[in-house]
Amino acid sequence: MTNIFVDARMQDDHRRQKLYEGALFLYSPTPSINALVAFARELIEEAFHPYDPRTAQFELPVERYVEILAKLKPFFIHHPRSKELVKGTLRELGCDLEQTYFDVPRLRSSTSNDYLTTGIAFAFHPHRDTWYSAPPCQLNWWLPVYDITADNGLAFHPRYFDEVIRNGSRNYNYDEWNRTSRATAAQHIKADTRVQPKPEQEIALDPQIRVVAPSGGVTIFSGAQLHSSVPNTSGLTRFSIDFRTVHFADVSGRRGAVNLDSECTGTNLRDFLRASDLDRLPEEVVAPYDQGAVPRDHLINQPTIVPQTTADLAADAAQASA
Ligand SMILES: [Fe+2]
Repeated sequence: MTNIFVDARMQDDHRRQKLYEGALFLYSPTPSINALVAFARELIEEAFHPYDPRTAQFELPVERYVEILAKLKPFFIHHPRSKELVKGTLRELGCDLEQTYFDVPRLRSSTSNDYLTTGIAFAFHPHRDTWYSAPPCQLNWWLPVYDITADNGLAFHPRYFDEVIRNGSRNYNYDEWNRTSRATAAQHIKADTRVQPKPEQEIALDPQIRVVAPSGGVTIFSGAQLHSSVPNTSGLTRFSIDFRTVHFADVSGRRGAVNLDSECTGTNLRDFLRASDLDRLPEEVVAPYDQGAVPRDHLINQPTIVPQTTADLAADAAQASA
């Protein structure tokens, strides 16, 4: 069963617990998300001028298209305004900025009709982020920059939240990947030869969940959730923003979703910045993750807090009216 919470009025501690159990959370755009979307649109539209970015793919040779993305994406990702607006988003959606760490927001594009599905616009096969050295407590935040359709967004494959998948994560090491593959993304135009953790068995893509939200509608999900790019047949390029968060108590307490099948090594935790002041996580809480996931028997999926009591419910109500 997959619970989907829409505009939930819930404390972040409760929300994280439900996300670790496989729920999805959807939120309507907040002021900071609207500003983030507006900022992204401004950069995208400038980069593709005089074309409409959603159809520019039909006007430009793919090499030129890649060149534009190769400049646009890092500019957005590393711009101080992007970080500032992610921070605002987290505040507006009830995260404690002293405890919540995020990594820089990515700008992604998914072109239609297989125009470009590799390298800098990689079309993601079904995967869990935890196969890519994400900790079990990682949460992913995903939002479209322009309205999407059912045919150009993101798909979830919820049956695998509780089901082991034979996969290639044992060959993945985050540091190695950073050294060799990431920087070359823009070179992979026709085919992507980078080694990525993939399922090593047939995946039943259905039943799948496709969340169709208007621009700025954000979906939050566990990094252990199996998800993929929907093959884009919409006739329009999809632009989206995503970023990840972790909560300090869950990193240090090794809480999160149960890790069924990830065997990668290394950790992406050194990328995360504290929302309040952009400080990094202390090395002593990060280093234990270099070994990869804890063996399955020892994996932890303990509630961060006890099940809801009257006091908790009152706190949720206070959060809702804050
Ligand atoms: Fe992912």
